[in-house]
Amino acid sequence: MSLQGKKVILCVTGGIAAYKVPVVARGLTELGAQVRVVMTRSATRFVGAQTFAALTGHPVGSELFAAGAEVPHVELARGADLVLVAPATANAIAKVAIGISDDLMSATLLTARCPVLVAPAMHTEMWEHPATRANVATLTERGVHLVGPVSGALSSGDEGPGRMAEPDDIIAAAAAVLSTQQELAGRRFVVTAGGTQEPIDPVRFIGNRSSGRMGIDIAAEAARRGAKVTLVVGPITVPIPGDIDVVKVRTAEEMREAVLERASDADVIIKAAAVADWQADVHAERKLKKADGPPAIHLVPTPDILAELGSDPSLRKDGSVLVGFAAETEPDPAKLAELAEAKRASKGADVIVANDVSSHDSGFEVPTNRAVIASVSGTEDVGLVTKKALAAALVTRVAAALGRS
Ligand code: CTP
Repeated sequence: MSLQGKKVILCVTGGIAAYKVPVVARGLTELGAQVRVVMTRSATRFVGAQTFAALTGHPVGSELFAAGAEVPHVELARGADLVLVAPATANAIAKVAIGISDDLMSATLLTARCPVLVAPAMHTEMWEHPATRANVATLTERGVHLVGPVSGALSSGDEGPGRMAEPDDIIAAAAAVLSTQQELAGRRFVVTAGGTQEPIDPVRFIGNRSSGRMGIDIAAEAARRGAKVTLVVGPITVPIPGDIDVVKVRTAEEMREAVLERASDADVIIKAAAVADWQADVHAERKLKKADGPPAIHLVPTPDILAELGSDPSLRKDGSVLVGFAAETEPDPAKLAELAEAKRASKGADVIVANDVSSHDSGFEVPTNRAVIASVSGTEDVGLVTKKALAAALVTRVAAALGRS
């Protein structure tokens, strides 16, 4: 991974996690990036400007109107390839969301037109406060990338979501954003979407409310970043973008066959489909007649495609990433994270995206999702975002995981 010639503005705000950020500055510099550090005044209480100056070879900015210089935020922001905010306090996130520009950091962020990556760090209560949730949603809507926060020990002695992502994960996320849109060129993705239909007779089936939108947004995002994408999709009505190879299936058995056939070539398999868990043990060849009375339907399990892929590494390419979804009726992000982690372990997946399907604005048939992403590097509460924004967050994580393998 090389970031040769990339210009990164690293904004450091005043949180205890600032002490870890020199590692990020050094890592990015070692990868070839030109790193310019901007610190808020309170950040300098946690780590010295001199440390960053020594690591990056450039003086650190903090004043909006420095004597003698050109307008520093304009000069800094122009030509930058990435603005990275780490740690991003609740206050910094709020300022960026609203567009306040009262110091060099916020003025730089308001001027920059390049991608922005934010690594939040704060106490759990602040992260979960509706004001922060709304500000984070505004940022992700605007296309700002997020890495973390993860759950873990906090400076207050508590445990919970709010801990800044680890420096290596921040560097990997920055590299993923910087390696522009074609970062996934040469990679093969298999994405499943929609619900399956398990026949009872030629006209009736067992199905579910999946619209297919989440999987299609993921497939589109991966294709936009250069991946060759095959979408294995159940019966849906949502249109599928043209640059995706589509395999239409109906039942869980057909989906299994289509996925397994392609699994050994895939760098990434994302199982966003809502696969029916049960099928009728026998289905009638001819339509069941009402006059014959209500039929007794005996259900048997469908094959669990994700669990099969997770438990047998010989089915997949070495170093590939397996992603599953968990549809849960659980609005509490902490409990959702626990369920995600449990499902990750039970299905043998590398990543599980758990989404709450009990709220009116999350899950089936709506364009938004309330989700938590669990992976080996911790759980990330993405909050309530559009399915497109969730797709972008997930593909960024997957791209970073591929870069590490
Ligand atoms: N899945 C699968 N094959 C199945 C059922 C589910 O591959 N027969 C996949 C889904 O595509 C999804 C993940 O497993 O990626 C989780 O699905 P979910 O319905 O949340 O979990 P279940 O395993 O069905 O468990 P439960 O409903 O009890 O939580």
